[in-house]
Order: sequence, then structure tokens, then C-alpha cells
Amino acid sequence: VEGSAGVFVSGGSEANFTCLQAARQWAAQVDGWDVRAEGVQRMRYPFVLYQSDQGHFCIRRSVEAMGLGRNAIHIIPSTPSLQMDVDRLRDQILADWGAGLRPFCVVATAGTVETGTIDPLDDLADLCAEQGLWLHVDGAYGAFGILDERVAPLYKGIERAHSLATDQHKWLSVPIDCGCALVRNGAALRDAFSLTLPNQDEHEPWLSEYTLQRTRRFRALDVWAVIHSAGRNGLARAIAHNIKMAHLLAQLVEAEPDLELISSGPLSIVRFRFAPPELRNEPLLLDRLNKALVHEMQQQGRAFLTSTSFQGKEALRACIVNYMTTETDIRTIVDETISVGKKEHSAINRGSTKKR
Ligand SMILES: Cc1ncc(COP(=O)(O)O)c(C=O)c1O
Repeated sequence: VEGSAGVFVSGGSEANFTCLQAARQWAAQVDGWDVRAEGVQRMRYPFVLYQSDQGHFCIRRSVEAMGLGRNAIHIIPSTPSLQMDVDRLRDQILADWGAGLRPFCVVATAGTVETGTIDPLDDLADLCAEQGLWLHVDGAYGAFGILDERVAPLYKGIERAHSLATDQHKWLSVPIDCGCALVRNGAALRDAFSLTLPNQDEHEPWLSEYTLQRTRRFRALDVWAVIHSAGRNGLARAIAHNIKMAHLLAQLVEAEPDLELISSGPLSIVRFRFAPPELRNEPLLLDRLNKALVHEMQQQGRAFLTSTSFQGKEALRACIVNYMTTETDIRTIVDETISVGKKEHSAINRGSTKKR
């Protein structure tokens, strides 16, 4: 896009941070002041931005690092489908304008870390246009899911975002560390970081004029190598296959009486837990059991799942982004969960019998 800028950074957190710096720079410019010169000490109206309760915590860290304070993030509840609730967002923005605050940015997510949900980007773009706000999309995990044509329609509106954070070291299998900050208004990004005037030097723009980092490694080479070897179609096939494997995992989990499916789709994250029918009414025991299970499974090393508690339940989380993932791997995850789960259950039983 004419006038846009993009720069590789260390990962999703830094990509989000870089984009938010541009958003803040732009908002202050719109109001006629220079946030880099004056800092937040002299801010006329406190800046606020918005994120759903499913958004990633790195946004909070960015906002804290920018000196806005984490209270500047107004968390918008999500709908039952775990998407940002656009009506509640509108109410909050209007209330904030009314209270003398300065709404400046909406942070949407294309692929939340918990479930891979994609916010209603088109509706959010409409609202941002109506309210004069910057729409940032955190696509660290999920942006490249758009390559799978079966889910691509869910991303409608992403092309209207003012900025997008991606993580090449997640779904593109580029070695860590590599993310990318894409900003439609490239001048705002440059203004947020540069120390020279545009066109002051004769050379090509320095990347250090667009980020906090100065000296850096040649990240673009890794990205080029992956794209060159896999091609767009190869990447699309790998991503579509990962999503298919996630569907398979969800199906297998549903077919197992000892497992409970917590969430799955639309991308490649599946949440489930070991929950034999006789324990379904024992939430505390199930939480304890599943926590122990994940730890033990990681120690055994046959499958690697993470655990976080979601909607009050301790669950296992599979996030399938490795292009080599096969059906056998998926079946191993299920078998391993059941076998380690049973072992941990007996261990807990033995422990409670001993105590008696
Ligand atoms: C939605 C989302 N945003 C941001 C991040 C942070 O990315 P990184 O760990 O590369 O800094 C993650 C990481 O899981 C993520 O899922």
C-alpha cells in the first residue's frame, strides 16, 4: 500500500508495541501536539484504548511501557462466541468521550491466544472509522490463517486495519525471533521512532528509524528463505493441514468418554481435558488432575501441551502450528492424555487413601 511501512522485529510483543507507538504518535498529531517531545507528563486528555477480555497480555505491557498506565486499556467483554462485543465497545467509547478521555485505538485480535477466535474486524473497522480511531490488529498467532481459504472469510476487514502485528516465528516456522509490524501510515511509524528528518540522508531509509531496536540481524533473510522454499501455496497447504489436524483432534476428543472438549476452532487451537464420567461432578479434583497431567506429559516428552485455566476450568491446550504435524501425532496426543491422566488419577487416589 502506498505510504505504508513494515519492519521485522523480535516477535509478536514487539510488533504490537511498535504499532501502538505509531498509533499514539498519530493520535497526538491529530490533536496538534508531539507526544515524543512532550511525553505523557503534559497530556491534555488521558489516552484510552480498547481490547477484548480475550486479548493478549503483551498489549498491557506495551501500554505500561509507553507510560500510559495499564488503566488506559478499557477491557471490553466478549460475546459468547468469544469475539469482542462491538455494541459494548461503542457504548464504552461514547462514555469515555463524554468523560473527557481521549479514545485513540481499538486493538482487535485475529486469532486469540486462548481459542484462536477472530474478532469481527469489519464491524470494528466501521466503528473506528465512525469514531476516528486507529484500528490495530494483533495477528501474532492467527494472521497467517487467512491463507486457508476455508477460514479466510472470517478475516474480512483486516485489510482496513491501520496496523497489523504478525509473528513469523509462529505459523510460518521461521526461527525465533521474528515478528513484523505493518503500518498503513508509514509516516506515523517513522515519526514515532526516527531521529532524522525524512529525506535528510541520501541512502535508503534506515530500519532503525522505524523501531526501538537499532543494530539488528538480517531477519528478512529467514522469512525470505521460508517463503522461497515453501512458496505461498506450500505455506497455505501447511496451515490448512494444521487446521484440519485441529478438527481431527476435536473429533477424537469428543469420541472419548474420558475426555471433555472445551473449545475448538476456527483455527488450530483445541482445548480439552481429562474428565472421566465418574469425576465430572468434582471440579476441584478435575482441575488438580489436569494440572498434574500436563506437567507429567511434558516430562514424558511424547506430546507437548500447555495448560491454562479457561472459563474456570483447568484445561489442556493444543496449538498446532508445526507443518510436520501428522494424524499419528494427533492420535498420540489423545492416547497420551488418557494414559497419563489415568496414571495421575490413581496417584491422586493413592495419596488420598494414604492420608486416611
Ligand atoms: C495473540 C498473541 N499476541 C501476542 C503474542 C506475543 O508474541 P511473542 O511471544 O512472539 O512476543 C502471542 C503469543 O502467543 C499471541 O498469541
